[in-house]
Amino acid sequence: RHIAVLMGGWSAEREVSLMSGAGIADALESLGHRVTRIDMDREVALRLAEAKPDLVFNALHGTPGEDGSVQGMLDLMGLAYTHSGLATSVVAIDKQLTKQTLVPHGIPMPGGRIVKSADLYEADPLARPYVLKPVNEGSSVGVAIVTDDGNYGNPIGHDVKGPWQEFDELLAEPFIRGRELTTAVLGDQALGVTELRPKSGFYDYDAKYTDGLTDHLFPADIPDEIAAACKRIALEAHRLLGCKGCSRADFRWDDSQGEDGLFLLEVNTQPGMTPLSLVPEQARHLGISYTDLVQRIVDDALS
Ligand code: DAL
Ligand code: MG
Repeated sequence: RHIAVLMGGWSAEREVSLMSGAGIADALESLGHRVTRIDMDREVALRLAEAKPDLVFNALHGTPGEDGSVQGMLDLMGLAYTHSGLATSVVAIDKQLTKQTLVPHGIPMPGGRIVKSADLYEADPLARPYVLKPVNEGSSVGVAIVTDDGNYGNPIGHDVKGPWQEFDELLAEPFIRGRELTTAVLGDQALGVTELRPKSGFYDYDAKYTDGLTDHLFPADIPDEIAAACKRIALEAHRLLGCKGCSRADFRWDDSQGEDGLFLLEVNTQPGMTPLSLVPEQARHLGISYTDLVQRIVDDALS
């Protein structure tokens, strides 16, 4: 097969995508596929029209590769691609739209609301502690946790000028104390639950991509019913959103509250495929190598 791997682009997660894309392209080559590596620019449609691949492996993260824009372009061009389609991507990239879609179906997600970042200089939008996050970024870009003893200028893990200041609007959510859990969905199977224990206490961009800054525990040392709930919710959210191929559901669990303390934060339709990423790691624990995982995503897209 001739497979074009789309990576890079101009989102805040460009570097992450380049790492995902390099790993995927190497794996595809080792599987015997002919691979065209494309660092996405505004000429991407021309380059794809020229390459005429049998399949586009979407290794982009953030906008516009994860938000439906690239999916719409590929639909118009009649090119098959991996992962979720246009409508799913539009909803899943937006944490507020995701809530509006999933909460009516009984999926537990934190409350919260959209706030203008300019208003944050005036007053707290919610009782502390709370989290401020851009609605449509990944990898914790722009996320701040505002605690009882901190303030906007000094959120955990960030310097005085918080990255949140770069966004006009933000999602404010109550901060869920406790633990960080994640579940990958591959095809129609929830793989398992990993607990992330960042040494700094905040699973931010550095903790996500710097080796040694976060302990990954698989399977997470949590009660069976919580693990089962993570898997059930991840699979249900994947289905309700119409995800394809592979997704990853991220959770916070307040372990003093039992199952009532479990909240889905978001569903990632283009989960990371870097060496430290969680979907490949869970797959590996189940005996699915990185290369097998890549081939499975290809097979799913072509089926
Ligand atoms: N947004 C990053 C790539 C992830 O979800 O893994
Ligand atoms: Mg994300």
